[in-house]
Amino acid sequence: MKNLIIAANWKSNKVKNEARQWFDEFSKNAWENGSEVVLLLPFTLLEFGSSYIKEKNLNIKLGAQDISPYDMGAYTGEVNAEQIKEFADYVLIGHSERRKNFSETDDAVNKKIERTIASSLTPIVCVSNMHQVESINRDDLIIAYEPIEAIGTGDPDDPQNTLSVAREVKERMKNAKVIYGGSVKAENVRNYTALDGVEGVLVGSESLSASSFSEIIKNAV
Ligand code: PGA
Repeated sequence: MKNLIIAANWKSNKVKNEARQWFDEFSKNAWENGSEVVLLLPFTLLEFGSSYIKEKNLNIKLGAQDISPYDMGAYTGEVNAEQIKEFADYVLIGHSERRKNFSETDDAVNKKIERTIASSLTPIVCVSNMHQVESINRDDLIIAYEPIEAIGTGDPDDPQNTLSVAREVKERMKNAKVIYGGSVKAENVRNYTALDGVEGVLVGSESLSASSFSEIIKNAV
């Protein structure tokens, strides 16, 4: 059996009370099936999430959705690796929404990957095409393949295409893991996790509901 990564990207959603309701509900239905469950929370919720997980002894990992390309210092508004590390193990880097809305470049993505690894955090690097894969300076990362037209549209990628992209990524990056993201839901998750060479999924909208996300984890295996 593959050790899947099932990651939830909450994007810029939820305040603390909503997060508490989500965690209360999720911890009631949580499915333990060997998958690594990673919640990519807004910075403001990482401390809450980490205390909740410790208190209830839940088998969930946390991640941030972005990271400063710099170390600690005079970089107003940025959150650096050491600050993230107090609460989380993973960092999402280069999501297409950051590339598009915040002009994030391939160069910034590489800097963020280096900062993440230097602090012993695990990057999950989002790409939507092979050009972005080719610009990455390492070959040992978790790559989230997210075609732009599949994100938030209800129109997920053709699994055969996902499979061929996953193979191409692994030809270029010998030690990569590939996960798929874009309109993943409980009904289609297995189309991706069953593919040889796809090691998990990155879930946006359907992760905002604890019950939908639990169903995805359940159906992924
Ligand atoms: P979606 O988002 O599941 O809502 O399509 C995925 C993502 O952007 O990571």
